Amino acid sequence: MTKRIGILTSGGDCAGLNATIRAVALRAHHGHGWTTIGLRYGTLGLLERPVEAVTLDPDRLSAALARQGGTFLGSTNRGDPFAFPMPDGSRKDRSGEMIEGLKQLGLDGLIGVGGDGSLAILRKLLGPSGIPFVGVPKTIDNDVGHTERAVGYSTAVAIATEALDRLQPTGTSHERTMVLEVMGRDAGHIAIAAGIAGGADVVLIPEIRWKLETVVQHIAQLRAVGRTSALVVVAEAAGQSDEAVDPAADAPDHGVGDWLAKRLAKATGAEARATVLGHVQRGAMPTAEDRLLASALGVRAVDLLAEGKGDHMVAWWNRQVIDVPLAKVVGQSRTVDADGTLICTARALGICLGDAV
Ligand code: F6P
Repeated sequence: MTKRIGILTSGGDCAGLNATIRAVALRAHHGHGWTTIGLRYGTLGLLERPVEAVTLDPDRLSAALARQGGTFLGSTNRGDPFAFPMPDGSRKDRSGEMIEGLKQLGLDGLIGVGGDGSLAILRKLLGPSGIPFVGVPKTIDNDVGHTERAVGYSTAVAIATEALDRLQPTGTSHERTMVLEVMGRDAGHIAIAAGIAGGADVVLIPEIRWKLETVVQHIAQLRAVGRTSALVVVAEAAGQSDEAVDPAADAPDHGVGDWLAKRLAKATGAEARATVLGHVQRGAMPTAEDRLLASALGVRAVDLLAEGKGDHMVAWWNRQVIDVPLAKVVGQSRTVDADGTLICTARALGICLGDAV
């Protein structure tokens, strides 16, 4: 009997999701003779009747799809099945309706592509249904536990690095301090990687307590040896690591990058400008690395279902795909190791991390 598996993308989109969907559907068809059903809008399509889903035709999943950013299935980061936001502002448990939707699709397994929050929710949702579930890690934040890489991270780092490449000449021309605020939620992975690759003078991340004075002194030292501009990268959550930094108090709508640029201009006397990179980091064509990762993880996710190994996540570890029990992954956000290789590299290159002590 032909098996039917489902795939959905959940949480914030990123580059490499289409490549993942393609890899899953191709492996299911060519490797196992299975049909793949694409669920629309994360779990939201499961609330519609009929359920919003499409049968993925392997002949239409050309390599061109792997080049495209976003997810052609759609996604959501606003649909917690257990506390679903209702129009009147209340929250309602709609998990039963979603399970019913899954059953209507007649699925023999489900692959969910998501960050740690989405994977935890999907695991909880699928648990009582008896439908085997396998997770694929994706997020520009790269903070999913037990995997060195999540789909979308490489592309986000490439975009943030390119932004620094572009800010450097204009900063130099106008003798300004250029502050780049990057995403990453509570982790500084994008900031530290792009900061090193893009030649930043200062990188501020939530994992290292920092203070303004250290940054001001570093820029003053650069100026003392003839440098007239500086590149600063700040992770969106970096303000949380120093009680003295409270962007919300001064610039409620503008975030830590704007807050920092204003303070640096005042303290150093040099003009400063802030750029908030925002969703630009999510919307690009995936890098070759993300396409490779998406393909390898997608293929293995299908094989795990074939092996009857549900309740696992595929992961990238030590240059190969492995699988990890989802129970080990949920609730294990992976932040930057403050003593790790990238931090040591940054320090060795003379990059200021704003140390508060
Ligand atoms: O988790 C991915 C991410 O892009 C974070 O880096 C960022 O904090 C958040 O999502 C933005 O969410 P939204 O798309 O809802 O603005």
